[in-house]
Amino acid sequence: MSDSYQAALARSAAIEKRLEENPASLRMLTGDRPTGALHIGHYFGSIKNRVKLQQSGAEIWQLIADYQVITDREMLGDIRGSVRSLAIDNIAAGLDPERATIFTHSAVPALNQLMLPFLSLVSVAELQRNPTVKDEAKSAGITSIGGLLLTYPVHQAADILFCKANVVPVGRDQLPHLEQTRVVARRFNERYGATFPEPDALLSDATLILGLDGTKMSKSKGNVIELRMTADETAKKLKGAKTDSDRMITYDPDARPEVANLLLLISLCEGLSPAQIADEIGDGGGGALKKRLTDAINTELAPLRARRLELEKDAAYVADILRAGNARANEVAEVTLAEVRERMGMVYT
Ligand code: TRP
Repeated sequence: MSDSYQAALARSAAIEKRLEENPASLRMLTGDRPTGALHIGHYFGSIKNRVKLQQSGAEIWQLIADYQVITDREMLGDIRGSVRSLAIDNIAAGLDPERATIFTHSAVPALNQLMLPFLSLVSVAELQRNPTVKDEAKSAGITSIGGLLLTYPVHQAADILFCKANVVPVGRDQLPHLEQTRVVARRFNERYGATFPEPDALLSDATLILGLDGTKMSKSKGNVIELRMTADETAKKLKGAKTDSDRMITYDPDARPEVANLLLLISLCEGLSPAQIADEIGDGGGGALKKRLTDAINTELAPLRARRLELEKDAAYVADILRAGNARANEVAEVTLAEVRERMGMVYT
């Protein structure tokens, strides 16, 4: 395990503690790309933590990162539909629009403007080293990296710092971006005076979940359960999940990664340990394992799915939430941008 991962884990544990002791001191921001439907990877990796933070009393900022869609593709696709669907997923999962600010990049000019001074604080070599950016270029089959793909981690720093968030619930793949954000905050503060907090990641236990075929979860590979799927679609999808020929179910992530992954998913839904679930299934084989997982996921997601269907019918309500969220994000971004300009001496009237 790398030193920086270890350090991030320690800081994440400290945040967990603060969540119990002083939740009002936490301001959370996180974001999703509106590239399609959210799935159980997002749900266990981040969404549950968002709701937990909200329920503890932390301040919640939820970004729909529309500018990040065009980092690794040319076309935005059905961006309106995807933005709406993301807002719905988050509200259905339990984000309360009365308490959480749900907003989009493109509607908040002052947030985007922060990227200019921030870009001056990082080197091209540093940007080129970002392992998540490299992975994304590779999986998108991109041979010539565009300016936005290279620099979006700095834009993401603006996402986090415009509202001075101090906690960011994310999966492990986002840690390089969090590190970049911390570096931007530190360098800005050193150069222009204390302005920004250095935010911490809140990592979940679920950072290791894989797709249903045992490889990295990815929508384009079709190896995910989407939150919006019906119970029947979920059952059908899970029937196709990969297992192995040993009927005796055991929890052995190294030797039996696919089976272990399905056990982990059950464990996340039921709260029992994967080993205990394996014991209970015993020699029931892949069939019993998948049946139990289907029931577990459908039970876990049933309330979310019911609320989702209601929200789908109320386009005006969802539009209102985004309008109010964008207005609030603009207010706060303008205050931060004014402070930044003042720190930089860029006030002329
Ligand atoms: N890069 C994140 C992803 O691909 C989405 C994102 C955009 C984000 N801005 C953010 C996450 C700010 C956390 C904080 O999932």
